[in-house]
Amino acid sequence: MAAPDFAALFAAASRIQPRAYAPYSRFKVGAALLADDGTIYAGCNVENAAYPVGACAEAGAISAMIAGGAKAISAILVFGEGAELVTPCGACRQRIREFALPETPVAIAGPEGVRARFTLEELLPASFGPANLPR
Ligand code: THU
Repeated sequence: MAAPDFAALFAAASRIQPRAYAPYSRFKVGAALLADDGTIYAGCNVENAAYPVGACAEAGAISAMIAGGAKAISAILVFGEGAELVTPCGACRQRIREFALPETPVAIAGPEGVRARFTLEELLPASFGPANLPR
């Protein structure tokens, strides 16, 4: 995608972030992705009293994309608060990898707007993906 519409992704991610269920960390995250069908899918983190069962915002957005019938991520934006960049965790980098290309843009945003842009390859170099498996 030549010029990803990060403004639309920012709007979707910042709108869903307050809906996050994060009573344990109190750290609410929103994620929005542009899919290959031209639709924006969003998700927020959903924690659990059994802590490891909690789900990240990126996982929610990817689930929404698959449930919505789309097949690939053209761009993704993560929205969170605090001084540090809210980059996807390692597991979510792999989740994104399943449906994205090495050059797929990953934008990191805070309340003031986009703070940083990476490619997926920068966040998850030399990654393992679907093509690694014999079929
Ligand atoms: N979290 C996300 O949802 N996405 C990220 O990119 C970073 C972290 C969530 C997981 C957990 O619910 C909370 O933020 C604190 O780690």
